Amino acid sequence: MAKLIYYAISSLDGYIEDAYGKFDWAEPDEEVHAFVNDLVRPVGTYLFGRRMYETLVFWERPPDLATQPPFVQDFAEIWQRADKIVFSKTLQTVASAKTRIERDFDPEAVRQLKATAARDLTVGGPELAAQAIEAGLVDEYQLFLVPVVVGGGKPSLQDRNVRVNLELLHERRFHNGTVYLHYRART
Ligand SMILES: NC(=O)c1ccc[n+]([C@@H]2O[C@H](COP(=O)([O-])OP(=O)(O)OC[C@H]3O[C@@H](n4cnc5c(N)ncnc54)[C@H](OP(=O)(O)O)[C@@H]3O)[C@@H](O)[C@H]2O)c1
Repeated sequence: MAKLIYYAISSLDGYIEDAYGKFDWAEPDEEVHAFVNDLVRPVGTYLFGRRMYETLVFWERPPDLATQPPFVQDFAEIWQRADKIVFSKTLQTVASAKTRIERDFDPEAVRQLKATAARDLTVGGPELAAQAIEAGLVDEYQLFLVPVVVGGGKPSLQDRNVRVNLELLHERRFHNGTVYLHYRART
């Protein structure tokens, strides 16, 4: 059975984007980026909300990729290799290969996907992830806490009145002050 992982880069006060819709403060440096690359390398399928997809589809054809540092090129290759499922009622076409659109989030279909997938899956952004968390489908949380308080914005973990008890599997601190927390949902 493949795992479904919620992965997010968040401010210390728990926001994935600030009140202005910005998340430039979350941009990983080389050390964090290389670590993220290794985390997502084994993932077979990304489940994206439409907004997260629209941000990350940049990686399908990054400009001047050949002149970028190796860790950036590495991430682009990892992104391009994975399958993507985009959840959206409005998106008409996709701008990446290996990508399909789903019009509804059907927990049973995702459960089936986990049961049959050969490799793990991730889910993001927070609006879509909240539905997977609510349905009890998220097995692990991989959170990066960036050393900034932004004071408001979009929570990385939405308020859904769902309680999930967690077991800490790993943690890591980076030179830029970012902390990685890896939890497993207790059943
Ligand atoms: N901190 C970071 O490092 C970082 C990195 C990248 C992005 N971000 C930010 O994170 C944001 C994305 O997170 P988000 O929580 O705002 O959005 P999201 O979960 O990525 O996407 C929300 C959208 O997904 C679709 N959707 C959600 N549930 C659905 C359902 N049950 N059925 C069908 N479609 C469904 C809807 O699209 P439709 O409206 O098309 O129906 C909805 O508007 C980005 O916009 C960006 O600002 C932060």
